[in-house]
Amino acid sequence: ERPIALNTGRLRDQWHTMTRTGGVPRLMSNAPEPVIEINAADAARDGLADGDLAQVSSRYGSSRIRVAISDAQKPGTAFLAMHWSGSFAANAGTGPLANPTADVHSGQPELKHVPVRLRREAVAWAGVLITRRDLRPTGFVHWSRRPVDGGWVYDLCGTETPDQGILLSRQLLGPFAGDKLVEYTDRRGLNYRAAALDSDGALAEALLVAPPGQLPPRDWLVSLLATRQPLASADRMAMLSGRSPVPMPSIGRVVCSCFNVGVNQIAAAVAAGCSTVDQVGAQLRAGTNCGACRSEIRTIIDAGRLQAAE
Ligand code: FES
Repeated sequence: ERPIALNTGRLRDQWHTMTRTGGVPRLMSNAPEPVIEINAADAARDGLADGDLAQVSSRYGSSRIRVAISDAQKPGTAFLAMHWSGSFAANAGTGPLANPTADVHSGQPELKHVPVRLRREAVAWAGVLITRRDLRPTGFVHWSRRPVDGGWVYDLCGTETPDQGILLSRQLLGPFAGDKLVEYTDRRGLNYRAAALDSDGALAEALLVAPPGQLPPRDWLVSLLATRQPLASADRMAMLSGRSPVPMPSIGRVVCSCFNVGVNQIAAAVAAGCSTVDQVGAQLRAGTNCGACRSEIRTIIDAGRLQAAE
């Protein structure tokens, strides 16, 4: 088993340990959770798929991080951002993995070339908590969180049985009076939904738990949290499905933070004929302010071209 050389560094929209940038929803939308980027060949060799949770171990310590398969990494190399602390994720930092030996002259530790091994964690359930409350979950195999307008989104998962995952996740729900909390569990005990309303009838909290890969999209519930408006009856009825009563296309992960433009919107513009970054900018404004997203837009254009040629 060959180790992978771990490089650590910065994310486009973050600064140090995110004590300031991590509180800005727009700055957290491009890279909303900690991931370790690896090449597809290494992932195949280690039996890992995109989105898997992996135990990442070096001779100095270990972390648990989600895998992102990326062409940006050559075989034998990996990248993990340095920003993630216990305020934003459970044990997903670079610190435990790093070689503590420092340069005798500068005191600089070795942060750019640490041999690591990845092992897939057998995740049995996944959950998402959308809430107004600022929490620090404990007792979970893995969690990460990001701010959104009106509150926070917590991604949760574990290796316990799904019913134990539901019990564990339910403990995060606030103390809502009975008539303000609606809950549903399917017959097999694999899927759980809960939604809590405040005294005005606005969404205060929603919790969804399901087998891995089976959670409904969360964009609609997140948008309800931001409104702080009493829910319409159609929305109330749809809440436990987690799906909007009217179709609400997802913009996907945000690529352009300046104008809140998502990967799905850019891919659609490319499919409709945009073939340069400037053309995408003319249509969506993406890439026309600070320019930090232009290289990512170019990558999406190239991927679209490749797909069209196949
Ligand atoms: S992130 Fe600033 S222009 Fe796109």
